[in-house]
Amino acid sequence: MAVKISPYGTAPDGTKCSLYTLVNAQGVKAVLTDFGAILVALEVPDRKGAAADITLGYDTLEGWVKDSSYFGATVGRCGNRIAKAKFTLDGKEYVLAANDGENHLHGGVKGFNKVVWKAKPVTTPGARGVEFSYLSKDGEEGYPGNLACTVTYMLTDAGELSISYGATTDKATPINLTHHSYFNLAGQGAGDVLGHELMLAADRYTPVDAGLIPTGELAPVKGTPMDFTTATAIGARIDQVPGGYDHNYVLTSGGGKLSLAARVYEPTSGRVMEISTTEPGIQFYSGNFLNGSVVGKGGKRYQKHYGFCLETQHFPDAPNKPAFPSVILRPGERYTHVTVHKFSTR
Ligand code: BGC
Repeated sequence: MAVKISPYGTAPDGTKCSLYTLVNAQGVKAVLTDFGAILVALEVPDRKGAAADITLGYDTLEGWVKDSSYFGATVGRCGNRIAKAKFTLDGKEYVLAANDGENHLHGGVKGFNKVVWKAKPVTTPGARGVEFSYLSKDGEEGYPGNLACTVTYMLTDAGELSISYGATTDKATPINLTHHSYFNLAGQGAGDVLGHELMLAADRYTPVDAGLIPTGELAPVKGTPMDFTTATAIGARIDQVPGGYDHNYVLTSGGGKLSLAARVYEPTSGRVMEISTTEPGIQFYSGNFLNGSVVGKGGKRYQKHYGFCLETQHFPDAPNKPAFPSVILRPGERYTHVTVHKFSTR
């Protein structure tokens, strides 16, 4: 089935935005918008074949414009935190927008989730999708270099939603693109996600300070409430983790080739989501800052832990942590990142 395009209102800069609807052979439906290259909705059948939208979000464009939770977002130029909103590259200090206390978070005040992307529908045998492209100008949110980025979402007949990123630059710059959907495999607004069973293919994580900046240590998860090497309910030990889960895990794969990073199972619906990625890290965020103040799709009020994020990425604050895998992209090089979400039931 081809990509269906429908109008979705006007962005604050006056650009007309659209919705792009993808449907696969099993009735999985993904809805995207060119505003922020956002995943607006994702309908997936449960074990009885009944579909539900499993991502948190909004009914209208205005919701995404005002959003401060990064629901469904394409996050960039650098996802996650950069300490004190600055870094030094090739001997020069760059000052970024500080939008999380003194730190820089998810690309700054107007990150990639708040700009309008160009969209191009793509169809291949057994898959359909949209390629979004955006030119981030030299100096945007403090970052150096004109960065030409693409984010391509493809929905396959094998039940996979893949997200492929590419970028080139004309000056050395950090880049760390990620996807920020909040999932609830029982359906958006259906309650908290504490009963979801999570497996993470990671035996270490990056501990953080009070501002959620990594200390630089790679700590073993074994024997701690951080251990998800075997499937465990998200809520089983969450009260032992101050503030809840909001940590980067060091994937055992080391990154570089597409490898299984996470598996999540929701017992009442039977839905399973498997995430594979080429990235070396994954941020597990248990929706700790949701507090019922956001009213989302269908009037659902999102309370604490009503969704979880699994953000495939390089490690937070990498521009200031030389021992972490590098996030620096130089002219002549190409940034690539592939993450695949595979849906099934049991
Ligand atoms: C971060 C949280 C943050 C949330 C954004 C997550 O990626 O790890 O600390 O609050 O995004 O709203």
